[in-house]
Amino acid sequence: MIDFRRLPMPLVFPTDFVWGAATSAHQVEGNNVHSDWWHFEQTGGTVLEKSGRACDHYHRFREDFDLARSFHHNAHRLSLEWSRIEPTAGSWEESALRHYEEVLTALQERGLRPFVTLHHFTLPHWLAVQGGFSTDRAPDHFARFVEHVAKRLGPLVDTWSTFNEPTVSSYSGYWFGSFAPGLTERRLGFRALRNMLVAHGTAFGILKSVDEAKPVGLVHTVDRKRPWRSWSEEDRAEAAFQDHIWNEAVFQALATGVIALPDWPAEERPELAGTLDYWGINFYRDSYCTAQTPSVPPALPEEYQSHMAWGFTPEGLYDMLRRAARFGKPLYVTENGIATADDRERIWYLAQHLAIVHKAWRESIPIRGYFHWSLLDNYEWGSFEETFGLVHVDRDTMRRTPKPSARFYADLIRTNTLSLDLLKGYLGNWSPIFGELK
Ligand code: GCO
Repeated sequence: MIDFRRLPMPLVFPTDFVWGAATSAHQVEGNNVHSDWWHFEQTGGTVLEKSGRACDHYHRFREDFDLARSFHHNAHRLSLEWSRIEPTAGSWEESALRHYEEVLTALQERGLRPFVTLHHFTLPHWLAVQGGFSTDRAPDHFARFVEHVAKRLGPLVDTWSTFNEPTVSSYSGYWFGSFAPGLTERRLGFRALRNMLVAHGTAFGILKSVDEAKPVGLVHTVDRKRPWRSWSEEDRAEAAFQDHIWNEAVFQALATGVIALPDWPAEERPELAGTLDYWGINFYRDSYCTAQTPSVPPALPEEYQSHMAWGFTPEGLYDMLRRAARFGKPLYVTENGIATADDRERIWYLAQHLAIVHKAWRESIPIRGYFHWSLLDNYEWGSFEETFGLVHVDRDTMRRTPKPSARFYADLIRTNTLSLDLLKGYLGNWSPIFGELK
């Protein structure tokens, strides 16, 4: 945890800093009926609740962007829903393309720079039934989609990202079976990741050929993998393995062009090297690894645990930003947030992680912006129980109510400054985890 008394308070951020929140199509739009996730939900999957209307953002995006604007955000991260745009193979749905034109225009009109992700966990159902990204044909399908939307929507986009969290998407969707399409074979998990990396490289080339000047990145989720029992050789080896498959393999593939994943021979794809203008970094918490049980334990029992049973480890963000910085590209924190019903914890989490972002910037790590996850309480891949939003959404009326954390973050952005007075103004002498703020 960061002791603010040891920092050069107040923390003033650079004037051109990018500030916003992130969402993804399936989690907020509602009625995403042509996607593999919709199908997964209807057919049992591992979900507790179905996404249904989600936040009805498909119809309420203007209202939601008005809120983001009122919070002084200057950018917004969102994803395009491939299954709406290409609901059957090779046919383009004009109404969906027009919809996204309106969405991107609405962002531009409000001074919110659109940071657009092309793949955020969902696939068209027609592609999922063919094996989705576990088949080597998937990159070609993705390339066709990317070319179509780049030509059509590109002029309205500020910054592209190809994939959101390709590791989570591949391992959860094809190895653990906890995400659509629900496959459960480890080697298919690694194949899916390999295919997403290949597809990223191709998409990078396409996006650049359509508009050379527009930045293209990939959003990588990273966390420090720590041995559950620090004294155990076995747990340390497990942590090293997990670090490779979750963190390092993606960094290395796009930095050097070598894809090195278990179960498959290492592959040299020199054309992948350097296919990035920036790294999007998603960071939530550290995680623990052990050889003892098949699953990764959450936080240590004596530590704080959020509603996801995740810990609270801002120092981990610092280490991961440093690791990402060694590739010499600009960085954005593209997601960072906490699932909690106690909004004071969200304020504390924001303050702690933004103090780290500021420290990284002071140390010349090329960090350009921060997107909080998430703007709205949304569909957390199986339930609405875990609330990450700056804004509460009433599930019956869809009414939006900003939480104090939305206003805290807005005040911080407006002044471009994190100060103790600001923090005390919201938390008083309360700090959830470490007693009083001094
Ligand atoms: C991810 C996704 C988001 C999640 C968030 C909280 O990181 O898994 O990008 O869609 O909702 O991370 O789990």
